Amino acid sequence: MACMGALSQTRAVLTLSEACERNKGPILEVLRTEFAASRSVLEVGSGTGQHAVHFAAHLPHLAWQPSEVEEQLAPLAERIRLEGTSNVRAPITLDAREHPWRVAPVDAVFSANTLHIIAWSACGPSFAAWRAPLRRRAWCACTDRFASRGNIRVTAMRNSTLT
Ligand SMILES: C[S@@+](CC[C@H](N)C(=O)[O-])C[C@H]1O[C@@H](n2cnc3c(N)ncnc32)[C@H](O)[C@@H]1O
Repeated sequence: MACMGALSQTRAVLTLSEACERNKGPILEVLRTEFAASRSVLEVGSGTGQHAVHFAAHLPHLAWQPSEVEEQLAPLAERIRLEGTSNVRAPITLDAREHPWRVAPVDAVFSANTLHIIAWSACGPSFAAWRAPLRRRAWCACTDRFASRGNIRVTAMRNSTLT
């Protein structure tokens, strides 16, 4: 019982995004198809880590690599440590405005609700940094509030369309 108390106290300090809780189910259904042939995914702007632990748990064929800017890395690492399945890697530091990204090659890049925070102009010419870690025939899937009325749209782009 003491352990349970300690665990719930530890979990209580994890940041919780209600938006993540709402959208993780619908996004997962898209990723089941889009990432069916992928084996490794780099997530940009993982935030609370709720997406990372949820998608990795439901897509066990994937090695999921979360990432965040330096100042947000510690709370993300804590969620991965507490809730991540074995196919979630320890999060790495990645500022998407940097060129080039110092990351290992992956089959896919995923990002949710982050592009609207990073200025389009900072994403670099032709999204070169986003495309760079992708192997041939890989996918980049981005969800963002591009659409009006707060709809969430999942956009999957073959790397060849990121030119
Ligand atoms: C609205 S939150 C979304 C987090 C998570 N993907 C989600 O859907 O809940 C945006 C995230 O982008 C991260 N972020 C902001 N600037 C960034 C940058 N230049 N490179 C990478 N991530 C960045 C923030 O730290 C934050 O966690």
